Amino acid sequence: MAPVIGATFSPFTMKKTLIISALALVSVVIGCKKDETDKGPSYEFRKPENFPEPTYTFDNNPVTEAGFKLGKKLFFDPILSVDNTVSCNNCHNQSLAFADLPLHAFSKGVMERQGIRNAPQLVNLAFMKEFFWDGGVTHLDFVPLNAIEAEFEMDEEIENVIAKLNNHAEYPALFKAAFGTDEINTPLMLHALSQFTNLMVSNNSPYDKYLRGEVVLTAQELEGLRLFEQKCQSCHSGILFTDESYRNNGIDSVFTDIGRARITSFSGDIGKFRVPSLRNVGITRPYMHNAKFATLEAVLDHYSDGIIESPSLDPSLENGIPMTAEEKAAIITFLKTLTDKDFTQDERFFKG
Ligand code: HEC
Ligand code: HEC
Repeated sequence: MAPVIGATFSPFTMKKTLIISALALVSVVIGCKKDETDKGPSYEFRKPENFPEPTYTFDNNPVTEAGFKLGKKLFFDPILSVDNTVSCNNCHNQSLAFADLPLHAFSKGVMERQGIRNAPQLVNLAFMKEFFWDGGVTHLDFVPLNAIEAEFEMDEEIENVIAKLNNHAEYPALFKAAFGTDEINTPLMLHALSQFTNLMVSNNSPYDKYLRGEVVLTAQELEGLRLFEQKCQSCHSGILFTDESYRNNGIDSVFTDIGRARITSFSGDIGKFRVPSLRNVGITRPYMHNAKFATLEAVLDHYSDGIIESPSLDPSLENGIPMTAEEKAAIITFLKTLTDKDFTQDERFFKG
C-alpha cells in the first residue's frame, strides 16, 4: 500500500489517514490474538469441570511437554513390537477417536495375527477405574505391557523393548529430557506412554458444547437425548457414558470369549463385558467386543428385537427395549452429537 503523505490537509487525506490508522489498530489487535495462540498448546492435564475426579495418580506421574512428546513417539513407534512392524497406532487411530479401522473387526497384530476383540477407542482414560472389555487391567500404566507382550498384538518381551530403546540414537536423550535420567527402564517407558494417553480427554463434542450453552441441538437431537436418558442411560450413564459395570447385553447365548468371568472365575460373570463409553460412537464401528454389529442401526435393532436369552443376561433387558423406527432414528442422531472433532483433529496427537 502506498504511504499516505499528508502534504495538504484536505479532508480526503485526513479521512484516509484515519482509516489507515484504524486498520493499523485492528491489525495490532489481531496481532495480539495471534501471539496468544502462538504460545502453543498446553500439555497440562486439565479436568473438565463436569467430569469426575481422575482415577489416575498424577502425583506420581505429572504430564509434562517432554514426557507427553516422548510418549507420543513411543505410541507411533513399531520398535515396541517383535519384528518392528506394529505400533500402538496400528490399532488406535486418532481420526477414529483412537479406535481401530472398521476393516479390522478384530485387531491385527504382528505377522497379520488376528486378535480376539475389537479394539476400543481411547478416550477419557484418566477417569476410568478399569481397562479392557473384561476389566482385566486395573491401572492405565499397565495397559501397554499387555499390548507389547500379547502374542497377537506386538509379541515382544519387555526386556527387549527396553534394550532396543537404550541402544537407540534418540531415545536416551528424550528420556533424559522427560525424566532427568538417560537410563531407560520399564516404569519410565510406561509413565511416558500414560502421559500421552492421559491427555486423550474428549469433552468438546456438540453435546458437550450444548451442555455449556455454546451451541443448540436440533429438535430431533433433543428428542434423541430424551429417549436416550429413558432407555439407555441406566448403563451408559453420566458424563463418561458408562457406569463401568460388567453386563451381558444379550448379544449371544454361548460365549467363546467368556468376558468378565476370565478375571473373576465366577460362572455368573460368563458373557458379561464392560459397558463401553458411547462417546464418539458415531465413528467407532463396528460395535461390541466381538464386532457383531456394523452399524448403529443394527445396534438399535438388537436392543429392540434381537436380545438373546442366557443365564447372565441383564434383567433389565429381558423384554428388550421397545423403540419405534422414529425413536431409533432420533437416538442415533443424538449419539452422533457425541463425535468430538476437536479431539480427533487435536494437533497435539499428530505424529509430527
Ligand atoms: C494389535 C492391535 C493393538 C495394538 C498394537 C495395541 N492395542 Fe491397545 N487395545 C487393543 C485391543 C483389542 C484392546 C482391547 C483389549 C481387551 O479388551 O482385551 C486394546 C485396549 C487398549 C486400552 C484400554 C482401553 C479401554 O477403554 O479399556 C488402552 C489404553 C490401549 N489399548 C493402549 C494401547 C497402547 C498404549 C498400545 C501400544 C503400546 C496399544 N494399545 C497397542 C488393540 C491393540
Ligand atoms: C443393561 C445395560 C445396557 C443398556 C440398558 C444399554 N446398553 Fe448398550 N451396551 C451394554 C454393554 C454391556 C455393551 C457391551 C457389550 C459387549 O461388547 O459384549 C454395550 C454396547 C453398546 C454399544 C457398542 C459400543 C462399542 O463401542 O462397541 C452401543 C452403540 C450401545 N451399547 C448403545 C446403546 C443404546 C443406544 C442403548 C439404549 C437404546 C443401550 N446401549 C442400552 C449395556 C447396555
